[in-house]
Amino acid sequence: MRELALNILDIVMNSVEAGASRIIVAIDERASANRLCVRIRDNGRGMNEEMVQRVLDPFVTTRTTRSVGMGLSMLRQIARQCGGDLTIRSQPGRGTLVTTMFQLDSLNRPPIGDMAESIVNLILGSLDVHFFYAHKTDAGSFTFDSFWLFGRMAERNCQIVEMTSPAKKYIKEKLKSIASKAIGSA
Ligand SMILES: Nc1ncnc2c1ncn2[C@@H]1O[C@H](COP(=O)(O)OP(=O)(O)OP(=O)(O)O)[C@@H](O)[C@H]1O
Ligand SMILES: [Mg+2]
Repeated sequence: MRELALNILDIVMNSVEAGASRIIVAIDERASANRLCVRIRDNGRGMNEEMVQRVLDPFVTTRTTRSVGMGLSMLRQIARQCGGDLTIRSQPGRGTLVTTMFQLDSLNRPPIGDMAESIVNLILGSLDVHFFYAHKTDAGSFTFDSFWLFGRMAERNCQIVEMTSPAKKYIKEKLKSIASKAIGSA
């Protein structure tokens, strides 16, 4: 089963491609409510209502390299198979919020997977974008700010390549410390 971390990577790439300078990825795992919620908010170019309807149609995309856009409609399909749904709120010129909900205990729900890998790759792949990552579980919460990482790099006078694996390790450890036992987190 494909990891949700890869779907999240796809959705965040849309935000990057939409020219966002600020992207927030917020994951909320609430065992008490049997819900997993993933929100991706950006300040990119946004979409009008008609476009929002069209992008959820699996046969529509604005990409010229391929005729079929899959990211959003595919994730919506997965969410619906897990007793949840995907919704988009967007305003042209202001930004977009993609909210995806899953029933936590659905047998069809893919594991969250390696969020540390996805987040660090996103940050290092788009250095001019300010990324925030917030992850909440019933056991606690963790936030990560890409500008904080750049500050640490500047302090230590080190290069991006030197920070890649320590940053992934740091996020992994933090996520482990708040992992709910019942959930397929990495
Ligand atoms: N955050 C966003 N801001 C503005 N436009 C967006 C955003 N997300 C998606 N879109 C628009 O919706 C279209 C569909 O997105 P989707 O991820 O489903 O497919 P794609 O990016 O076109 O192709 P794929 O993800 O399969 O490579 C995008 O091409 C883009 O025009
Ligand atoms: Mg896409």
